[in-house]
Amino acid sequence: MALKIGSVFRRKAPKQKAERPTIAAPLSDLFAHDAPDASPRAAANLLPRFKASAGDQIDRQRGDRFTSMRLKLRAAFTPSQPVVDRRMFAGRSGVLAAMISSLEDQRLHLVIYGSRGIGKTSLLHMLSQAAKDARYIVHYSSCGAASNFQETFRAAAAEIPLLFHNGYGPTAEEAESGANFADLLPKASFSPRQFGELCARLTGTRMIIVLDEFDRSVSMEFRREIAELIKILSDRSVRVQLIIAGVAGDIAELVEHIPSIRRNILAVRIPLLTEDETRELVKTGERASGLVFDPAAIDFIVRTSSGWPYIASLISHHSGLAAIEASRSTVLPSDVSKALHGAVLELAGRIPKAAQTQVETLREKGMTKLLTLLAGASLHAGGEFDLSDIDAVAGKSADGAGAKRLVAQLANDRILLRRPDDSAESYVFLEDGLPAYLWFQGAQDDFQATRKVRVSNG
Ligand SMILES: Nc1ncnc2c1ncn2[C@@H]1O[C@H](COP(=O)(O)OP(=O)(O)OP(=O)(O)O)[C@@H](O)[C@H]1O
Ligand SMILES: [Mg+2]
Repeated sequence: MALKIGSVFRRKAPKQKAERPTIAAPLSDLFAHDAPDASPRAAANLLPRFKASAGDQIDRQRGDRFTSMRLKLRAAFTPSQPVVDRRMFAGRSGVLAAMISSLEDQRLHLVIYGSRGIGKTSLLHMLSQAAKDARYIVHYSSCGAASNFQETFRAAAAEIPLLFHNGYGPTAEEAESGANFADLLPKASFSPRQFGELCARLTGTRMIIVLDEFDRSVSMEFRREIAELIKILSDRSVRVQLIIAGVAGDIAELVEHIPSIRRNILAVRIPLLTEDETRELVKTGERASGLVFDPAAIDFIVRTSSGWPYIASLISHHSGLAAIEASRSTVLPSDVSKALHGAVLELAGRIPKAAQTQVETLREKGMTKLLTLLAGASLHAGGEFDLSDIDAVAGKSADGAGAKRLVAQLANDRILLRRPDDSAESYVFLEDGLPAYLWFQGAQDDFQATRKVRVSNG
């Protein structure tokens, strides 16, 4: 991927006539009365207010068509939440089909891993919905540091009605009274074997148990128990399958290193979105929000997000807001630039001050381009990158060699972390928000530079 973010602006965006807001008045208008009302009530009216109610009803006196667009935009791009609505989910059909086939045709258990924000949970939601459509019982659980086997699997068992137990049947009194599999577990603790044996009684349906954020669980005992359960479920062809998802590749290793279950699981690394898939993400949100994204703005978003759905969603959302603020229903490249500025500020709030100061010092020393290249390499590679990823991003640019030299210094300064157990040199940014932060700044600089050239060329 070449670093020419600015090239997307060379195409002239259509001139937009600003659409006048019908209600939203500029603040200065509020002061234009002949006799200012200084009462506390009037002062209170000047304070910003919500434009829509908690039930998403628009205040007719204050709202306008942009208010309703703003509401729709919020549902169209959800950068701080996983996608749960199928209509808002872009791409990934190949990965989804492969996962369904592994579950259905090979009866494997799945381990899904990938960097933060790559789209694991959203994908799990889509997979869960597809399974529910096929009448699977799906239990979704998000792990935490304190997760343990008992709580996790008791909650899962509680989702299976007793009518699916081969010893009861739908007309049994207990089944009719709404009892479930958890009622058959020992009141005190139970082992993976006991849980597996209970699940072996499942008939007439199948179950999928999803354990998301598995990397957050720190208990080795919990991990060992999960591996043991997978072994028992596989050996007895039980109608229950596990899907384990988390950030690090080591969750794949975690289960794969137990040779006895290696044949029973499929580890899937979630890839970055392709350019077409990112385009689809923007188009999906465009349809849902009622805004129109100018083709040059879409190109800008596609290039800047480098295949990261989180970044594409964040920038699209902020760009849409920038257009609405300007009372326009068309999103232009200048809105994307504003969005990047907003995103930089937002990310800055999440990156420790010390790390920010370190990179600012390097920027002041004229290393902005090199930092942008390294950030691009990290985004391009899905987090962890090696020297070949720098080449891929730098293309023919002479900055590639400089960026490679900078790697050693950044590793020394603990901005980059060298993967300790890797024979090939590979690195990650210690702060996971830093690559996007640096890349957005680079994109902004490029945009401003291209703009200056356009202005000076008349
Ligand atoms: N296929 C997709 N289509 C549209 N938006 C997506 C898609 N995948 C992810 N997103 C968006 O990207 C963001 C991150 O997605 P998600 O929360 O699923 O990632 P994750 O890998 O589970 O992140 P984390 O590691 O932090 O849990 C969300 O805002 C979501 O809205
Ligand atoms: Mg997640």
